[in-house]
Amino acid sequence: MLNGKRILLIVAGGIAAFKSLELVRRLRGRGASVRCVLTEAGAKFVTPLSLQALTEDRVYSDMFSLTDESEMGHIQLSRDADLLVVAPATANLLARMAGGLADDLAATVLLATDKPVLAAPAMNVRMWTHAATVANVETLKKRGVSFIGPNDGAMACNEYGPGRMSEPEEIVVAIENLLSVDKPLAGKKALVTSGPTREAIDPVRYISNHSSGKQGHAIAAALARLGAEVTLVSGPVTVPDPSGVKVVKIDSADQMLAACLAAGAIDVVVCAAAVADWRVSHPSDAKIKKKPGAAPPALELAPNPDILATLSRSSPQRPRLVVGFAAETENLIANAVDKRQRKGCDWILANDVSPAVGTFGGERNTVHLVSAQGVEDWPTLAKDEVAARLADRIARHLGQPRPAQAAE
Ligand code: CTP
Repeated sequence: MLNGKRILLIVAGGIAAFKSLELVRRLRGRGASVRCVLTEAGAKFVTPLSLQALTEDRVYSDMFSLTDESEMGHIQLSRDADLLVVAPATANLLARMAGGLADDLAATVLLATDKPVLAAPAMNVRMWTHAATVANVETLKKRGVSFIGPNDGAMACNEYGPGRMSEPEEIVVAIENLLSVDKPLAGKKALVTSGPTREAIDPVRYISNHSSGKQGHAIAAALARLGAEVTLVSGPVTVPDPSGVKVVKIDSADQMLAACLAAGAIDVVVCAAAVADWRVSHPSDAKIKKKPGAAPPALELAPNPDILATLSRSSPQRPRLVVGFAAETENLIANAVDKRQRKGCDWILANDVSPAVGTFGGERNTVHLVSAQGVEDWPTLAKDEVAARLADRIARHLGQPRPAQAAE
């Protein structure tokens, strides 16, 4: 995916610099060429020789080196790149970027560039949450700098929290997203369901679940980034509407189904919503009042329509690709395999939603792609990265010629 792309990788001084070596390897493995700028502090963690060997190019460090400047001036370094990646982006380098300093080669190149910049922060949790860093990141985002991470986790300083640099694979996916110039889903229509549904008990009470909508919304955004015309049918969530997507807001499962059917002919549907399985048979028009001494009201439930199963049904209007999720707390794969067959969809993304795993509402997800071809385990990724990977898979699938049989 990165054939012919030129990355200028700026390696600053943090323990996570060791991951930058792996990042170079992966980027080159995807066809990109990588040139490195290593800060003085960065050179305390990785050697120029390692970066030089992995990039098969010389490494740039010294702004005042006559040879460096005559062979490859700081302006040329940025001109020759499609994207600047700062990994690790330390608190110090982020502060210098935000302040517009040009006190070493890395900061000067970043100030002089008109190319997109991606920063992968890495620092101690207190430094990351410090008001100064928060303000610097805010400033840089407003100026258009993209960020990936940091992730939560145990750190070299024996603390736990946000501050770990994203894994090289995650950074590669972010780079691919930023550089995705082609729109493989242009002309394709996609439908995504997201968030929970609410089933009314009376005008003030409802049955619902913990779905945040983060995964479904990220999928809608990722499909739109690849050029698809996306309709997102969403239950009540607090995550913002993704840009470039038509959002239809609903409350109940019945409304979600109606909105999906109204979307018309579509090429791919991804059902990421956590639809309530049951609704209250006879919701009260007025608020149910407590009657002193009386037993609590019994709620009679009726099954909700299964939206995924409905959209999977074989018909001339069936989308070419129907993707569902399996939210499970036990027997993850076996239940997902069974669910795929029962609902008649093409792919199921199985994820563990046990509270201890933190999928609902969390930032990351571990999914397994279940298809007729078998089960593919994906690494634990940020929900955005799961979405990008899925969108990429969908684009590849829809790009293939249509097989004779409907079931793929
Ligand atoms: N789904 C749907 N409509 C429903 C229930 C579920 O479209 N009424 C979709 C979800 O969006 C998801 C998939 O079906 O893509 C599986 O949802 P899940 O909650 O894992 O399974 P259920 O069908 O609810 O089955 P169970 O509760 O028995 O696990």
